Amino acid sequence: MSKTTFRTALITGASAGLGAEYARRLAAAGTNLVLVARRLARLDDLARELREKHAVTVETLQADLATSDGIDRVEHRLAGDETLDLLVNNAGFTGGKSFVERDAAVHMDMVQVHVATTVRLSRAVLPGMVSRGRGAIINVASIAAWSAFSGPMYSGTKAFLVMFSENLQSELLGTGVCVQALCPGMTHTEFHEVANIDKAIVPKPFWMTAEEVVRISLRRLGRGVVCVPGWKNKVIAFLMRCPLTAAGIRAFSRLPAVRKRANR
Ligand SMILES: NC(=O)c1ccc[n+]([C@@H]2O[C@H](COP(=O)([O-])OP(=O)(O)OC[C@H]3O[C@@H](n4cnc5c(N)ncnc54)[C@H](OP(=O)(O)O)[C@@H]3O)[C@@H](O)[C@H]2O)c1
Repeated sequence: MSKTTFRTALITGASAGLGAEYARRLAAAGTNLVLVARRLARLDDLARELREKHAVTVETLQADLATSDGIDRVEHRLAGDETLDLLVNNAGFTGGKSFVERDAAVHMDMVQVHVATTVRLSRAVLPGMVSRGRGAIINVASIAAWSAFSGPMYSGTKAFLVMFSENLQSELLGTGVCVQALCPGMTHTEFHEVANIDKAIVPKPFWMTAEEVVRISLRRLGRGVVCVPGWKNKVIAFLMRCPLTAAGIRAFSRLPAVRKRANR
């Protein structure tokens, strides 16, 4: 766990997976929480558990972040909260179908959840964080930001989050506010089940647990913007980014047999 302690954190996508794990770790460190997602019953169960275990304040906020109304509700909650010093933009999803097969509306939902929500909530919290001289934003991106296998929308929106975070941190240098782009690889959560993706296509040694990923994210916060958890993911990310190997990986990803397996 990071040595930095936070007074209040707002976590999007806290009803499952990485978001719920951030909530558990932060509550254990004494941070009060605002948990956001669509499934309110799940949020309420988690809130009850964390209040009982750690004596922290936990609010729940139901919002569909694919809608402007949903983002408005969260922005409204953030407005003027002097204690909010950590924002975790974590909510996200992917899909198995190709760009052409999927409805444009689903693509726009992804832009809303991954991109618009992150931009609007970051803009909502930053003036307060900067004026107080402290705060942090974690944008949960993905190793898919550099991947040839993850589809144009998922990779494209996650690549946005990486560059957004890098350049936002440059703008915020000297303010006391830090930004992290967390880029996990394969992680055991509900993510693949929701998208109907066969987890068997990636061998077991490449998977991490949500506990490992979140522990590394919080430990590395403030020590460099891009955080790729796990040495195997670091090697994969390096190979996907290095010009010498990236072109070969891209060519491999375009082989018909590989494309068929990736789209399974
Ligand atoms: N698992 C992986 O292998 C992996 C790898 C790299 C990056 N990531 C990223 O990690 C983040 C968390 O995913 P996860 O793995 O923890 O998946 P998960 O277990 O499926 O959790 C996704 C969370 O996002 C929320 N969410 C999805 N759509 C939403 C919407 N329209 N409005 C509000 N909340 C929404 C879900 O809550 P509700 O359904 O209750 O709304 C849920 O709490 C995502 O950004 C994902 O892209 C995951």
